[in-house]
Amino acid sequence: MNQASSAPVRVGLLGLGTVGTALADLLRFRSDLILERALVRDASKPRRIVRPDEVVTTDLDEVLDRSDVVVELMGGVDRAYAAVDAALARGRPVVTANKALLAERWDDLAPAMRDGRLHFEASVMAGAPVIGAVAGSLRGNAPIEIHAVLNGTCGFVLSRLEQGVPYAAAVAEAQRLGYAEADPTLDVSGLDAAHKLFVIGRLAVDPQLSWAALRDATRGIERLTPGIVQEAMEDGGRVQLVGSIVPADGRWHATVRPVYLPAGHPLALGEETRASMIYRGAGGEAFLAGPGAGGIETASAVLGDLLAAAAGRPGPSLLDRAAPVPTTAQVEDLGELEAAAAPGASDRA
Ligand code: NAP
Ligand code: HSE
Repeated sequence: MNQASSAPVRVGLLGLGTVGTALADLLRFRSDLILERALVRDASKPRRIVRPDEVVTTDLDEVLDRSDVVVELMGGVDRAYAAVDAALARGRPVVTANKALLAERWDDLAPAMRDGRLHFEASVMAGAPVIGAVAGSLRGNAPIEIHAVLNGTCGFVLSRLEQGVPYAAAVAEAQRLGYAEADPTLDVSGLDAAHKLFVIGRLAVDPQLSWAALRDATRGIERLTPGIVQEAMEDGGRVQLVGSIVPADGRWHATVRPVYLPAGHPLALGEETRASMIYRGAGGEAFLAGPGAGGIETASAVLGDLLAAAAGRPGPSLLDRAAPVPTTAQVEDLGELEAAAAPGASDRA
């Protein structure tokens, strides 16, 4: 890497969509980092970045050869994995915001994580620094349960349903605003939230947490209607898509489903796309919240990771053993998180 000299660190970007373009905007103002090349699928698309003719390419090798650090913002799993693997094989540290990649290929990526060569703060809760927290100081606060609102698109769609906007129109608006995944069924089916919850779970409670079990325990918001979410509002409550990791039967269980949250509940507050997490531990309750989706919101967290990678600092460390599963008495002492399954939560769409 170039950080020992005064030459800027060369950034190779894989993907120049909502987040990649916002990152390119942020890099314009830096003298220590330079956007060297950006991989896209369609080089003929107009791009609103500086020097597009010099930067944009469809040649992955060109990006990898000419970069010191690689940032993966293309999305998807197989193609993204091949590109990240190739970057790591060439000795490049990698920054990614791709939680689908992390959840589906965690075990393949674990050696690079163990070496500290993979950075992924932006993959969960976008602009709120949850990865640093669960892989850092929260490890000292023995977990009892975790509840989180993790998908900005669902938060946005639910707030539109509250206003009486039909479901399909709300999803289309989230797509236009750049919150939704390239395939928005990932958002509304709960899978994107499950990808993120899995990343939290592997870092916070159990390095063997099962992705297949969580995927099977995931329900989305597809069956919700303005009528259902408006009924929740009659008592001042709200419906939110919540991911939870709780102890049950002597093990850690993870699940994602829409729930009713009562008036004033911290997971039900804030702007439409806000992400938030309640971490209840033996040492007390921690709460984290921040922007959960969006170009600049996510790119700012990517830039934080880029600065760490460029300086040679390692990415988040893996959990080496499962956190002890709390006793029933410990859970009862905490009291219930006030929430109830919303209608439609038990129906698989
Ligand atoms: P996006 O707008 O769909 O952009 C994807 C970019 O990747 C496009 O530039 C596309 O090229 C390029 N690309 C896709 N497949 C490719 C391939 N096979 N070969 C070469 N280039 C390819 O996606 P995004 O919203 O920026 O999201 C990027 C990543 O960040 C995803 O993993 C997403 O889950 C994650 N993320 C997004 C947000 C958000 O709010 N949007 C927040 C947190 C994390 P073209 O431009 O030529 O089509
Ligand atoms: N589609 C995702 C969401 C982007 O709506 O939360 C942020 O990860």
